Amino acid sequence: MAPLDMKPNELESYWLPFTPNRSFKKRPRLFSGAKDMHYFTPDGRKVMDASSGLFCVNAGHGRDTITKAIQEAAGRLDFAPPFMYATPQVFELSSKLAMLAPGDLDYALFANSGSEAVDTALKVALAYHRARGEGARVRFIGRERGYHGVGFGGISVGGMVNNRKMFGNMLYGVDHLPTTYNKAKQAFTIGEPEWGLETLDELTRLIGLHDASTIACVIVEPVQGSTGCIPPPKGYMQKLREITEKHGILLILDEVITGFGRMGYAFAAERYGIVPDMITFAKGVTNGAVPMSGVMVRKGIYETHMQGAEHLPELFHGYTYSGHPLAAAAGVATLNLYQEEGIFERARKMEKTFCEAMMSLKGLPNVADIRPIGMLCGIDLDPIPGKGGVRGYNAIETAYHDEDVYVRITGDTFIVSPPLIATESDISFIRDKLATIIKKVA
Ligand SMILES: Cc1ncc(COP(=O)(O)O)c(C=O)c1O
Repeated sequence: MAPLDMKPNELESYWLPFTPNRSFKKRPRLFSGAKDMHYFTPDGRKVMDASSGLFCVNAGHGRDTITKAIQEAAGRLDFAPPFMYATPQVFELSSKLAMLAPGDLDYALFANSGSEAVDTALKVALAYHRARGEGARVRFIGRERGYHGVGFGGISVGGMVNNRKMFGNMLYGVDHLPTTYNKAKQAFTIGEPEWGLETLDELTRLIGLHDASTIACVIVEPVQGSTGCIPPPKGYMQKLREITEKHGILLILDEVITGFGRMGYAFAAERYGIVPDMITFAKGVTNGAVPMSGVMVRKGIYETHMQGAEHLPELFHGYTYSGHPLAAAAGVATLNLYQEEGIFERARKMEKTFCEAMMSLKGLPNVADIRPIGMLCGIDLDPIPGKGGVRGYNAIETAYHDEDVYVRITGDTFIVSPPLIATESDISFIRDKLATIIKKVA
């Protein structure tokens, strides 16, 4: 198109991710500002953020100390090469993360998105086994309904069918554990359900089938987020740790959503009292303000790589923007803010209020299940017969245009996850708005 023909603010050119573009462009939903618990729309409305953006802004929007840290960093150092060089901030951030992560998860690798963090962790798992002389350990095990981003690694180990079915064979040698979700046995449970530990028998079967010596790692989200919040059954995480440890299989916890307070702790691993071999993180590490992700790695894995010629990289992996100065500054400021405001403890204390408020939506039209845990909750609505996702999309439109609420909805499932600064009155406001929306789309 010639420049003179260009229309300002033309909607057509942008292909929105995970969005029905044609419907969106007929009736766009825009945000142009945000502060604390709210977004602002270009027409001046204040919209309650019931899902922390996309599970990112745990300390709420537009926090001054984070903004200032980013501004100051941008003025001081725009970019530095992360290969062979580093900045002081990236070391500061790594040390802080090492202090927050459980056990000896003392080393940080950085990337820019959850998807990249997952790819990084899967590659580290392969490289680690190979460095130890167990290069036959190449098999990955994920889980049905898992979400690990959209890279080929992530969709291969992930288990959400719409994210996989269009994209061919993906990585070979990947198995999946069965979902732990069983509506008949678990519906309307607060927290970890009683039923479901037996689904882990499948791991023992897979180990029997392939032999542990061919399996590199198991990767799971401690609480599955993007599929609609599925908490692990009681004892599941501990048993998963036990089995993987016994067989020398690395356990990767994908904590892209559950990290930084969502489950009431720095990482959900702490909630379950386990030390995995790696933790992937993103989103909340910078309160969503600058893209950043990473992997926390146990000491033994790092040390295994510290061999060979000292003038060569020990791991041939990294991204141009790994540990970018703006992201590192945002990360340091964010972790300081979380600490100063006791954000994780605050979430832990608010869990009961939040979970009970969400569960009180039981009995409203079409509500098929409610699964609250930590400060995260999945609410399934029964689909309109033969029209899966239509009720959910209507709810998105109603929430934004008529009720001044933003809530993440995928298919016919709401995923509620307010900023962890939410007060009791914010939570009851969100609860009442959800009730109104659910009734309106009945
Ligand atoms: C558990 C988990 N892993 C990975 C990702 C992918 O993150 P990103 O969208 O930043 O690539 C997500 C995103 O929601 C996630 O929830």
